[in-house]
Amino acid sequence: MEKAQACILAIESSCDDTSAAVMKDGVVLSNIIASQAIHAKYGGIVPEVASRMHQENIALVVDAALDKAGIQPDQLDAIACTAGPGLMGSLTVGLSYAKGLALSLQIPLISINHMRAHVLSHFIDDPVPVFPFLCLTVSGGHTQIVLVKDEDTFEVLGQTLDDAVGEAFDKSGKLLGLPYPAGPIIDKYASLGDARFPFPIPQIDGLDFSFSGVKTAIMYFLRDEKKKDPAFVANNMNDICASIQHTLVEILSRKIMQAAEEHHISEIAVAGGVAANSGLRRALGVLGEARGWNLYIPAMQYCTDNAGMIAMAGYLQFQKGRFSGLDAKPYVRGM
Ligand code: KG4
Ligand code: ZN
Repeated sequence: MEKAQACILAIESSCDDTSAAVMKDGVVLSNIIASQAIHAKYGGIVPEVASRMHQENIALVVDAALDKAGIQPDQLDAIACTAGPGLMGSLTVGLSYAKGLALSLQIPLISINHMRAHVLSHFIDDPVPVFPFLCLTVSGGHTQIVLVKDEDTFEVLGQTLDDAVGEAFDKSGKLLGLPYPAGPIIDKYASLGDARFPFPIPQIDGLDFSFSGVKTAIMYFLRDEKKKDPAFVANNMNDICASIQHTLVEILSRKIMQAAEEHHISEIAVAGGVAANSGLRRALGVLGEARGWNLYIPAMQYCTDNAGMIAMAGYLQFQKGRFSGLDAKPYVRGM
């Protein structure tokens, strides 16, 4: 089918990153992301602060995206925006801005589901996965295995029952006194250490995940070791990080392996900020090699929360003439 020509502005503000992107005929011309470093001060995301920062950033980020793309507002054909899931206040800022812009430019609005967009980020650059494929979406807010039958048909096969895996990295890091977000720091220290401290792998039915038990095990382990040696953490930081990372990666690897086997699928995609983790990339690479998987991990700028993936999802909706009314509402949950 001939693809419709379209120039789309996309906005993403579901959590703590304000992002805007411009996509022309399926090609990303710009993808601007303003991260909110302020949350590091609080050791995690403060929703009220996040929405206020979105308010400060959004016009600047949208202007920067148009500027970088060399696109004038009157050249836009539609505005795609994340409607959910996410933080209500944060979503409201982006969606209200998108509605205002769509109304003033007299172009349609396309509301986008953030979780679907993470999956569809795989269609931004070649090589693209072949349907049906499995997507492991792993970030600070999400941990899911999704069976993607086509670009509209998503079946969540499993998800976390408590913390997201990125949250597990960040909370473990907090126990070690590392700043937020601790995931990338744990990754760095882990590469220098040996995973010699065993933490239990939770036995959860089906394809669901649980990470809160690991966090508790780490907490008690550190408490006991620090009683014996107050300098335990400082003296063993690399090995502790390697052990934490090994455990979290093992949990993810086992479940995606199980999903691939149960569904006889060897097209495996990974999305979300934790896809940056070098231990996870290595483990899935080795597994994929042994099992004949085709493994897909998008460029880093499309793994973390970004409007490029919202633009991709919007572009696919545009092809089908599916638009949203200006009464589109933000939602906290749902795929
Ligand atoms: O996708 P993302 O930017 O935002 C959302 O949470 O939606 O993901 C951020 C999460 C944080 O929890 C961060 O610690 C984690 O991804 N992360 C990592 C790495 N880079 C980012 N976790 C482990 N290893 C990394 N290299
Ligand atoms: Zn996300």
